[in-house]
Amino acid sequence: MCGIVGYVGEKNAQDFLVSGLKRLEYRGYDSAGVVTFGDKGVTLVKAKGKIGDLEAKLAGLKRGDKVGIGHTRWATHGEPSEVNAHPHHVGNIYLVHNGIIENYKELKNALSGYEFKSETDSEVLAALIDSFYQGGKYPLANAVVQALKLIQGTYGIAVMSELNPSEIVVARAGSPLVIGVGHGETLIASDASALLGHTKQAIYLNDGEIATVTKNSVEIKTLNAEPVSAKVEEIETNLAAIQKDGYEHFLLKEIMEQPRSLEETLRGRVDLEEGMVRLGGPGLSETELRKIKHLVIVGCGTAYNAGLLASYYIEQFTPEVTVEVVIASEYRYRQAYIPKDSVALIVSQSGETADTLACLREIKKQGVRTVGIVNAIGSTIAREVDGGTYVHVGPEISVASTKAFTSQVVAMVMFGLTIAQAKGVRSGVLKPYIKEIAKLPGEIKKVLDECRELVKGVAEKYKDYDHAVYLGRDTAYPAAMEGALKLKEISYIDANAYAFGELKHGPLALIDDRFFELALLPEGELYEKAVSNVQEVLARGGHVITVTNKTEFDLPVESVVKITTSVEALVPILLNLVAQLFAYYVAVEKGLDVDQPRNLAKSVTVE
Ligand code: AGP
Repeated sequence: MCGIVGYVGEKNAQDFLVSGLKRLEYRGYDSAGVVTFGDKGVTLVKAKGKIGDLEAKLAGLKRGDKVGIGHTRWATHGEPSEVNAHPHHVGNIYLVHNGIIENYKELKNALSGYEFKSETDSEVLAALIDSFYQGGKYPLANAVVQALKLIQGTYGIAVMSELNPSEIVVARAGSPLVIGVGHGETLIASDASALLGHTKQAIYLNDGEIATVTKNSVEIKTLNAEPVSAKVEEIETNLAAIQKDGYEHFLLKEIMEQPRSLEETLRGRVDLEEGMVRLGGPGLSETELRKIKHLVIVGCGTAYNAGLLASYYIEQFTPEVTVEVVIASEYRYRQAYIPKDSVALIVSQSGETADTLACLREIKKQGVRTVGIVNAIGSTIAREVDGGTYVHVGPEISVASTKAFTSQVVAMVMFGLTIAQAKGVRSGVLKPYIKEIAKLPGEIKKVLDECRELVKGVAEKYKDYDHAVYLGRDTAYPAAMEGALKLKEISYIDANAYAFGELKHGPLALIDDRFFELALLPEGELYEKAVSNVQEVLARGGHVITVTNKTEFDLPVESVVKITTSVEALVPILLNLVAQLFAYYVAVEKGLDVDQPRNLAKSVTVE
């Protein structure tokens, strides 16, 4: 996620800007920049890469300036580069921006008098503000308000002009901003962690508010110019905690932020009124979508599991499309023939996984159209596919992937729905899925809130096992695979998933007191079959945990985690949340390094 800092006061602004950006590094970024005003004019320095790269460029430019703003960018529009890095400078305006301006293209077209250097939506906002500022003819805050009234999307911004170097204007809608009140200085940050060590007095800006700050004043108004009385609060936490938004580990933070991260995935892509999904990124015309006969879904680890789960759904509503899900590290060496009228979905959170990238390049040699399902904007895979759909979940810091999985599945289901829409599949078939997708963020929040403490208690009972078997049938089987992967990679328990129907073909021999079994039992036409499979395990003394949305559940299992939801088809996505929490709490109970498990890397850029 991007980071914002700002300073106006009596000290060297650059010192706070750089140290503040370092505090925000954990959020993940790919470029950074600062701008300060002083006796020698404007100093604007940006760098692709890390803060160290920015510092190298700042060396020798220490000018003792006392006002400035800075930014770390996690690319959303436009790849990581110096020109796309913030602060953006247009006319008399310098701006840093967190968030996404959804209507930036139409705004850009209307700003015909401006030359744009970057591919970003943020630069368009800077130009829009400049068009209202008109060389200082109007107060900076007024120009910002006029511009913000025209945009759709989310923002947290800090804006300055060399024509009025004693003030910084900040505003937010959907992206946090906090104002630190010091003695003879005012500090700005997108996350209070950047303020620690400078002040404990903070004003948390609310959505729809705009503030003009100077070294001795903070004036807050609504966008409708209604005055807002500033509420100064004590920052009561330590640095580490804030950086995890108060969670003990990034993994728990990322599990718990899935309602919001999925909302970002869905933003602008689900039209409930029309009962349609709209994915612009894949870049396939209606005709090309209609012609698709075969999908190859490529990924590793969690990305593979997400593809497998999505494939079950895609088959359900695109009858004449065959779907093949492959492990990248295997597929890249096979002599697999990909039939005509195929599209390859390349799934990767980091967009840098070596095996997946190699597979992409092999597939492209066959002239097959490739579509990325990627999180990291501007990553190598994102740049090399023919088109793509970013999942926009923000940086996923913990090695174990959670929020990316959920959004990858939904993004691929939406891609499948896009094919089905083009093929004229009846809306009566598609609408139920679209309705469920739209309500998933709320259902995810409900499940996480309801289950978190219960799952914590269940995890304490099973943390000492060395082996586990995860079980599921149909769409619950890929979810079981993902749950087993989560448990093994952070708790080091030997967890493996099997399709329920496979138990009697071998795995049933495993069941003894060394093992516990976690069974995913979604309601539905296969529920009774899965119940009888659980009974096979119980008959052999299995230690069974059942995760289900079945209201009346009375099997004599050891532990039950019941979720309540109105979601039906996509319920395995919700059952997987329980498996995520279970793996997390088992690892915590075992005192392991939850976010950086042994032997693993967040992005496996080596083969
Ligand atoms: C999942 O929790 C693991 N971190 C790992 O399996 C991961 O999903 C895999 O390495 C693929 O990474 P990618 O999505 O960045 O390509």
